[in-house]
Amino acid sequence: MNDRAASMQDLSAFWMPFTANRQFKSAPRLLAKAKGMYYTSDDGRRILDGTAGLWCVNAGHCRDEIVAAVQAQAAEMDFAPTFQMGHPKAFEAATKIAKHTPGDLKHIFFVNSGSEAVDTALKIALAYHRARGEGQRTRFIGRERAYHGVGFGGTSVGGIPANRKAYSGAMLPAVDHLPHTLNIKEAAYSKGQPAWGAHLADELERLVTLHDASTIAAVIVEPVAGSTGVLVPPQGYLQRLREICDKHGILLIFDEVITGWGRLGTPFAAQFFNVTPDLLTMAKGTNNAAAPMGAVAASKRIHDTVINGAPAGIELFHGYTYSGHPIAAAAACATIDLYEREQIFARAAKMAPVFEEAIHALRGTRHVIDIRNIGLIGGIELASRDGAPGARAYDAFVRCFQKGVLVRMAGDILAFSPPLIIEAEQIAELFKTVGEVLNEVD
Ligand SMILES: Cc1ncc(COP(=O)(O)O)c(C=O)c1O
Repeated sequence: MNDRAASMQDLSAFWMPFTANRQFKSAPRLLAKAKGMYYTSDDGRRILDGTAGLWCVNAGHCRDEIVAAVQAQAAEMDFAPTFQMGHPKAFEAATKIAKHTPGDLKHIFFVNSGSEAVDTALKIALAYHRARGEGQRTRFIGRERAYHGVGFGGTSVGGIPANRKAYSGAMLPAVDHLPHTLNIKEAAYSKGQPAWGAHLADELERLVTLHDASTIAAVIVEPVAGSTGVLVPPQGYLQRLREICDKHGILLIFDEVITGWGRLGTPFAAQFFNVTPDLLTMAKGTNNAAAPMGAVAASKRIHDTVINGAPAGIELFHGYTYSGHPIAAAAACATIDLYEREQIFARAAKMAPVFEEAIHALRGTRHVIDIRNIGLIGGIELASRDGAPGARAYDAFVRCFQKGVLVRMAGDILAFSPPLIIEAEQIAELFKTVGEVLNEVD
């Protein structure tokens, strides 16, 4: 254990999520404060946030309006149930969210995280098919390398082997996976959507033949796969998935936990790619991560079928104590007002070319084998060290932090998703530091 760790409070009680606990606790990295584009570490250093926390603080940290809304709501009413009761902020937040969701996905079911949003969307898909007399449609199609959170549903449709391994015997029984869309040989250094790969959507036809459409409830994909290391959909791929789903009466779910709320320069990726799903999950940027909150947006057809198809009484037996929590809802209202007032999505669209140029300028840097980007999301894939996958990116991540820049790693991919308020000089600083670090690490 290093000196700081030894002098600090006891770190043993907190079993940290998705963390190498032993490694971390022997050399901890602690964040103490945040404002705008920066964290301050516990030893007083300013850290440029290249990841918007965990892809979530889209408006920048500790924005005054959101802080004030949270404080006011906490003082006025801390909690109120939303089971057979209601409170104004939850309705207001749903209405504000529905102003930005695509197509007719205007019915908002509140949850507390991306994982809960995914499991909720899967359950709504089942309830929808059952309400229309096709209760045998229980199969879900996910995709290799997908990340859909950590519930049993999300883990089952997810496709990151390490996330499934310990639980693989207890996954949902009727799930299959599409192939992922990354092919470095065919599409390395694509700027935005790769030209190669739309045909991979046709694999869905193969799965439909294999399982029969009448057993398939929904296909779920991240429009841009984030946590697995930034996989940008090939041109035409999402359109093709939509067509095949429509042809076979299969619902299409977009998991927009990362891509939602302006990350691509539009409210959701659905608008960016001009493909409208039937259900859409969100979390993170919904309220700038000021309090736990997620949501599922459902189309009119899905909502009306479930609601009108049920006998009098509760229509959907699902919900969480904290669905539409007043403080999270107040934060969402203030956040969406801020997004609108500062035109933050348009700002992200404006900065995307600057970000693209800066990240691709690292082509040719030591260890780099691919660079991918879209909107304000970027990934730099590094060659793995022999026999130690992930070690090089981990070293780069630690060294970046020491040099005052927070980046994210997924395997040997460095991922970037700064707050959407990032300035050109900060983009330059971010990638300058990354370039230096890549030249330093083994
Ligand atoms: C696409 C996607 N879905 C779901 C989740 C899970 O969200 P949470 O960690 O809030 O449960 C994430 C988290 O990063 C995500 O990226």
